[in-house]
Amino acid sequence: MNTPVSTVITGIGELATNAAARVEQGGLLGLVHDAAVVVEGSRVAWVGPSAEAPAADVQVDAGGRSVVPGFVDSHSHLVFAGDRSAEFEARMTGRPYTAGGIRTTVAKTRAATDEQLTSHVARLVAEMRAQGTTSLEIKSGYGLSVHDEARSLAVARQFTEDTTFLGAHVVPEEFRGAATPEDYVDLVTGPMLAAAAPHARWIDVFCEEGAFGVDQARAILAAGSDSGLRGRLHANQLTYGGGVRLACELGLVAVDHCTFLSQDDVTALAASGTIATLLPGVEFSTRQPYPDARRLLDAGVRVALASDCNPGSCFTSSMPLCIALAVREMRMTPAEALHAATAMGAAALDRDDVGVLAPGKAADLVLLDAPSYVHLAYRPGVPLVAGVWQAGRPVVSR
Ligand code: NIG
Ligand code: FE
Repeated sequence: MNTPVSTVITGIGELATNAAARVEQGGLLGLVHDAAVVVEGSRVAWVGPSAEAPAADVQVDAGGRSVVPGFVDSHSHLVFAGDRSAEFEARMTGRPYTAGGIRTTVAKTRAATDEQLTSHVARLVAEMRAQGTTSLEIKSGYGLSVHDEARSLAVARQFTEDTTFLGAHVVPEEFRGAATPEDYVDLVTGPMLAAAAPHARWIDVFCEEGAFGVDQARAILAAGSDSGLRGRLHANQLTYGGGVRLACELGLVAVDHCTFLSQDDVTALAASGTIATLLPGVEFSTRQPYPDARRLLDAGVRVALASDCNPGSCFTSSMPLCIALAVREMRMTPAEALHAATAMGAAALDRDDVGVLAPGKAADLVLLDAPSYVHLAYRPGVPLVAGVWQAGRPVVSR
C-alpha cells in the first residue's frame, strides 16, 4: 500500500478546531492562533503551533489567514427540476409562502430523467463546496411516487451517505380526490418506504398545516424506524404545531425549522437534547420572522444551522450567508453561529468524524481570505472561501 500523501498547512493566523480539549483555552471554537495542521491521507494527523509543525510532503502557507472546519449542511433538498423564481417574485410582492408550491416542483421532477437530476445535483453540490460545505444531507420529496422517490434517493446517494426519505413532503395531486391523503400515508409507509429504504439513512416528514399532521408524522416515523431509518422532522415552520414536541418525545436527533415555538416547545427541546436546526435562509426568502436562536441557546437547547437549499422556500446553497443571517437576525454570536454550522451540523447527522479539526477526524478544512472566522458574518455576501480540502484533498483553490 502507498503511504498517503501528507500536507502541512502552516501560518494559520486563527484556527477554529471545535475540539473539546481546546475549549478551556480557545473558547467554544477551540481557537488556536499561529497554528498549523497536518493532514495525512483523508484525516487530520496533527494540530498545534505553526512553529512546531512537523514536515510533510506538501507545504501550504496560509499567510496569516484563518482556517475553519468545513461546513456541515444537515438539511437540503437538492433533487429537483424546474424553476420557481416567479413564486419568489410573487412572495416579494406580498403573497405568503404555503406548502402547496411543492407540487409545482413535483411535476417537473417526475418529468426529468435520472441524468438531468444527477447533473443538477452535481452542479449544486459543487456550488456548495465552493462556499465551504464539505458534508451534506440530501432529501428526496419531489418525486412522491414509489418510482420517483426511490430514484431521487438513488441520485442523492451518489453524493452523500446522509440521504433522507421525505415521501411525506406534501400529499400529491392524485391523492386529493377519490384517493385520499390517508391512502397516500399508506403508500408512504408501505411500498414507497420499501423502495426508498435501501437508498436512505434517514426518514423525514413535513409536519405542518397543509402537509402532514402529528398523528400521521408519528405513524410515518414509526414505519421508517421499523425499516431501519432514523427519524428527523420539519416542524413549526409556518405555525405553532405539535411537531417539535413529537420530535422531543421520540428522542429524534434533530428537528428542523423551529420558527414558531411555544415555551413548552423550548422546554421540551432543552430537556430532550434534540437539536433545533434553524434555517435562516428560509425566513430571508419567505419574509417570515426569524426563529429566536438566543432564546433557545439561553434555555440550553442545542442549535444547528443549515441551508435548506430547495427551489421553493429558500434557494441558497450558502452556509456563510446562513451564518451571517444567524448573527445579524437571530442574535447568535459569530462563534455560536460557526459552531452551529460545523460541529452542531455534524451532531444533527449523528456524526462525530466531521465538524471538528483534531487528530483522527476528517481533513475537511476551509481556508478563509480573512484574518478571523468573524469575517463570515462581518463581511456578508463576500466570497471569502479561498481554499477547501475535503477528506484531505484540495477541491477548491482560488
Ligand atoms: O424545508 N418545508 C418543507 N419543505 C421545504 C420547502 C419545499 C418547497 O417549497 O419546495 C422547506 O422549506
Ligand atoms: Fe426543508
